[in-house]
Amino acid sequence: MKILNFGSCNIDYVYNIEHIVKPGETETTDKLEVFPGGKGLNQSVAIARAGTKVYHAGCIGSDAEILLDTFKTSGVDTSYIKQVDAKNGHAIIQVSSQGENSIFLHPGSNHMITNDFTDEVLGGFEKDDIILLQNEINNIDYIVDKVWKKGMIIALNPSPFNEKLKNLDFNKITYLILNEIEGCEITGESSAEQILLNLKNSYPQLKVVLTLGEKGCVYMDKNSQYYQPIFKTEVVDTTAAGDTFTGYFISEISKGTQYKDAIKIASCASAVTVSGKGAAPSIPTEEEVRKAFNYLREEQ
Ligand code: RIB
Repeated sequence: MKILNFGSCNIDYVYNIEHIVKPGETETTDKLEVFPGGKGLNQSVAIARAGTKVYHAGCIGSDAEILLDTFKTSGVDTSYIKQVDAKNGHAIIQVSSQGENSIFLHPGSNHMITNDFTDEVLGGFEKDDIILLQNEINNIDYIVDKVWKKGMIIALNPSPFNEKLKNLDFNKITYLILNEIEGCEITGESSAEQILLNLKNSYPQLKVVLTLGEKGCVYMDKNSQYYQPIFKTEVVDTTAAGDTFTGYFISEISKGTQYKDAIKIASCASAVTVSGKGAAPSIPTEEEVRKAFNYLREEQ
């Protein structure tokens, strides 16, 4: 079984500021750092650092050397990455002194996925291979329809949520890894319990992981529901915490790990990420996660 992640790659411009800028406010920051990022890239890096082979597909710009280096040093297969004549997608990220972030994106090359390129990539995959998707590239509907017809297993992290996703047929999805905000948008419900109930009734085939920030996460499928608390750690920068969780979860599922252990490992990996700076650079290796189990404790 192969894993394909068809997703975004961003250059992240990270500004450290006392608090996230409010409408009408101007703040000065004396620090700008540039990191490899993008939900797609981060999730591929997490899968590879978790020790699982992953193919990343997507479009990068002419300014994307930092991203290619990251893929290569992390062990991600780049055979399906296409360089296009455009600027790479980028993110402007504010990180507050509390470690919270606020992000806006310019998609650039991430929105240059054509049907022909999609068909070319999917030619390398078959029934029962896993495809992981987020919502920072164009052409998601087309990709989902094609891979569904091929019998591939679709894992979706519907992030960032927008109107485009409302047209997606969630009956075709097997794994849905989402946060509460995305859950509210998809179901129209406002509490975690109602979101889960709604998803279970509407899409009984789904295996859902609902992440609840500091409150942990819940796994749910049609027969079971299981709660996992967070691992306590010092918060430096929450960027890519969700991506690390998703990447580690998919890696574990592909190895046949049971869901309880899969979300425990993903939670621990994600705690390591929030204790480091930047998106991709803070994603731990399998070995670092193994060590973290010795010093991080689950919140009771
Ligand atoms: O999830 C974190 C990522 O979101 C950042 O790396 C940024 O590029 C945005 O896509």
